[in-house]
Amino acid sequence: MKIKLQRYKDVEGANISKVVMVFEDTETTSCDGLKEILRCIKEEKHFSGKKNEIYTLTNVENNRVVKSILIGLGEYKHLSIDLIRNVSAKVMKEITAQKITNVAMYIDQFTSNTPELIKAMTEAILMSAYRFDKYKSEKVSEVLKEVTLVVNNEADINVLMDNVKEGHAVAEGNLLARELVNEPANILTPAELAERTVTVGKNCGFEVEIFDRKEIENLEMEAFISVGKGSANEPKLIVMRYMGNPEDKNNILGFVGKGLTFDAGGYCLKTAPTMWQMKTDMGGAGAVIGAMSSIAKMKIKKNVVAVVAACENLISGTAYRPGDIINTMNGKTIEILNTDAEGRLTLADAVTYIIRREGASKIIDIATLTGAVGGALGNVVTGVVSNNDELYSKLEAASKKCDEKVWRFPAFDEYKALLKGNNADLANITAPVGGGAITAGLFVGEFVEEKPWVHLDIAATAFSEGTPNKEYFTKGATGIGSRLLYELAKID
Ligand code: BES
Ligand code: MN
Ligand code: ZN
Repeated sequence: MKIKLQRYKDVEGANISKVVMVFEDTETTSCDGLKEILRCIKEEKHFSGKKNEIYTLTNVENNRVVKSILIGLGEYKHLSIDLIRNVSAKVMKEITAQKITNVAMYIDQFTSNTPELIKAMTEAILMSAYRFDKYKSEKVSEVLKEVTLVVNNEADINVLMDNVKEGHAVAEGNLLARELVNEPANILTPAELAERTVTVGKNCGFEVEIFDRKEIENLEMEAFISVGKGSANEPKLIVMRYMGNPEDKNNILGFVGKGLTFDAGGYCLKTAPTMWQMKTDMGGAGAVIGAMSSIAKMKIKKNVVAVVAACENLISGTAYRPGDIINTMNGKTIEILNTDAEGRLTLADAVTYIIRREGASKIIDIATLTGAVGGALGNVVTGVVSNNDELYSKLEAASKKCDEKVWRFPAFDEYKALLKGNNADLANITAPVGGGAITAGLFVGEFVEEKPWVHLDIAATAFSEGTPNKEYFTKGATGIGSRLLYELAKID
């Protein structure tokens, strides 16, 4: 789909369908031809401008059917970029349902914050068009070909095109993350995830290095190796490097994404009804790969390295067992009390790797780590554990830019005390006293070597089978994390 910008005066009189955003309580429509009609419609109570309300007017102009789709914004005082993102996505679905191929969206009435608005609308338009139907014989064909955002007559189109470009880069990162998460585990093996990352790196402009099983063993990443041992699909360590600020080469932001291409639970086997959803257990990996693609496309002037320890947690004669005591790249030993608490093991070694081998100075790890996070926060917000107020406040600022919500858990020493092992330095699960999302995060924190660190548990936000809580999401993967990490890299 193509997104264009045009000035109001240049689209006047064109016979193309329009989207007009209408407030409930303020008249701001600049479409001259619509002012009077809108007044009548409101007066006769056909349409009031309430948030998400839609009303279609059909006209015939020069033998062509031209529609004007009104979408309500609600009250002016509640206007925000997040609202515009949702409303834009909502109206895009309506336009698609009405089989409109070409539409002009009027945003010339919003005089303030236009660059942000254009970026947000571009994101919403592209994100709302996503479908995962590549394995269906009957695909939904793309009807909508072109959206023209109509800006005011004084706007500098060339400057604003940069915001369209950024919206594109950000949305495409999100959609890449969604696509990877939606892919089934028979297709998206660790090797396939690695190969796709290589392709993304080539297309977007970052370096990718892949380590195979032998090389991972040589790095002494025993925790990572242990988790993947039960699968015939060998593990891959995926390393992505983007050095956008070579003058400041000691300042490296490190992203670590959980990359379980499938998590059956191992010998502590999961139950059948929702086990299939564990194809999404590489949501963290999807997020970091998506974010790297956006960062590189936008040539952000920061150094960012990302690591994914990709493997599969299965059962076989070579799988790891409950009771096993394993080593880590860091040197701390771990007693395995539950083979289903595997994510933290792979993350532990990936974090050590990114610090010791890649020189990361700050760490963000992102993972579909615990069922407990959903119990605590539901699917609205991502749970966070951090050892650093400054980095967390930057994450909060990034979160406000993209409306991917975060909430920081407490991380008192009493929680850390629960991580102690009986027969090793650490145990991979804690006593059943609750707080599982916190202790899982703190387990990863045991490996950050005092670096500023933020842990994001996206187990409940990365994938949803129910009604999505954003208009630009569909059932299935949300791609959560990709936009958040992109915004964080920009801010930090
Ligand atoms: N991948 C799961 C967590 C998960 C659950 C992700 C639901 C997405 C949806 C993780 O590896 C896991 O199995 N966690 C266990 C930890 C427990 C054994 C301490 C859990 O949350 O039950
Ligand atoms: Mn598990
Ligand atoms: Zn898992």
